[in-house]
Amino acid sequence: MTDPRTRGPQRGSRATGTRSPVDPARLAALEVMKAVRVDGAYTNLVLPSVLRQHGLSGRDAAFVTELVSGTIRRRGTYDAILAACVDRPLSKVEAKVLDALRLGTHQLLSMRVPTHAAISTTVDLVRAKVSSGAGGFANAVLRQVARQELAEWIGRVAPDPRVAPTRFASIAYSHPRWIVDELRSAVGAEELFELLAADNEPPRVTLVARPGRGTRDELPGEPTPYSPYGVVLAGGDPGEIPAVAEGRAGVQDEGSQLVAVAMAAAAVDGPDRRWLDLCAGPGGKAALLAALAAQRGASLVAAERQEHRSRLVQRALRGAPGTLGIVTSDGTAPPFARGAFDRVLVDAPCTGLGALRRRPEARWRRRADDLLSLVLLQRRLLSSALDLTRPGGVVLYATCSPVISETRGVVSSVLETRDDVVLEDARALLPDVPQCDGPMPGTVQLWPHRHGTDAMFLALLRRTA
Ligand SMILES: C[S@@+](CC[C@H](N)C(=O)[O-])C[C@H]1O[C@@H](n2cnc3c(N)ncnc32)[C@H](O)[C@@H]1O
Repeated sequence: MTDPRTRGPQRGSRATGTRSPVDPARLAALEVMKAVRVDGAYTNLVLPSVLRQHGLSGRDAAFVTELVSGTIRRRGTYDAILAACVDRPLSKVEAKVLDALRLGTHQLLSMRVPTHAAISTTVDLVRAKVSSGAGGFANAVLRQVARQELAEWIGRVAPDPRVAPTRFASIAYSHPRWIVDELRSAVGAEELFELLAADNEPPRVTLVARPGRGTRDELPGEPTPYSPYGVVLAGGDPGEIPAVAEGRAGVQDEGSQLVAVAMAAAAVDGPDRRWLDLCAGPGGKAALLAALAAQRGASLVAAERQEHRSRLVQRALRGAPGTLGIVTSDGTAPPFARGAFDRVLVDAPCTGLGALRRRPEARWRRRADDLLSLVLLQRRLLSSALDLTRPGGVVLYATCSPVISETRGVVSSVLETRDDVVLEDARALLPDVPQCDGPMPGTVQLWPHRHGTDAMFLALLRRTA
């Protein structure tokens, strides 16, 4: 990354025709902020094309990525600080100006960009993209922001944690209050702040070597602590690694790798030939599962409801031995016979609150109201998976969320309605992973602050006769 302590405006920019030059990196950052706010874009998806348009790569691209992702993650904290520096509600500040102020605040309080560079580049940006008057306003606000360090600001704008613990956590750690409440219920009050802090850190990039197709040795970086197939990328663009470009390896969080590892590790009684990934899009786990299935003469069917995500599964599984078929179908009414599979993965659609560090905007988009409909869908998908599994076979239920109603709640309610299923010990499938007890006996819960993975939940259910 360009050294943030020395980064200032770049002279001679042709980005605007105004008298003040605009730093292309900051301009690119502002454009991504707008795309996320106005078009509902995903930061990770929109960044590469904006970087390309501005001809930014290497350290400049890394600078913009951290600037945008960090600003969006910490928006809750920064808005509380900005509200204390602006003499009107933030809702009355022009959206583009507010985006620029948030970017400036992140540079001042979290990136150690020198004060003069952070302020002058932001003011130039606002002058060029909005007006000279708005530039003056930005200058006055950011000078106030720069007067204190982040911790001092939090002490000033957040309430006493003993009096208003949820509001404190929400402001200090930049999470919506309903998410703070859900995460506290899941992780407990003692570890809550550690978890929230981990959500604000950019995740390390991990790669997976798909067994039988690629090996860890050909990937640059350190082996992951728990997944036997993972490597923590040392740096650089993963797309330029030959094994990744050829589909023999991929980018995949270690927690997701462990879901596939656990699914393959469960013992089944009798034949073990037909595997199903019921909710496969975009295909990360399916690619690892297909490789594992091929190694033992089994094969995988990957199903996905959404057509465009099915196409992503197709791409992920291109050239993968062990793939029997890719089917676009609703997992609650699947086109397969009862008992057709020996093992089934339900990697359920969920709130994704276990992957907040990976998706900067997700915490601001999700609504508490989403939970109920997701839980109803999760129950139906799990029941359907159990119907598709033959007696003696297994279902692994997984979410990238630790929220109790999506994890323990779904598993217990399905168990209550059936007498042909038993819950088994999923922790035994991952014996090297420490401290991974889930919210009900035998289940697994991974955590960013404990394991350095997304907060994946796993439960193992066996069909009985
Ligand atoms: C958590 S994601 C799965 C991630 C995937 N296993 C991977 O590792 O790449 C859940 C997927 O379930 C799909 N989905 C949602 N409702 C579904 C349904 N009724 N039947 C099948 N798939 C569904 C979503 O479109 C989404 O692609």
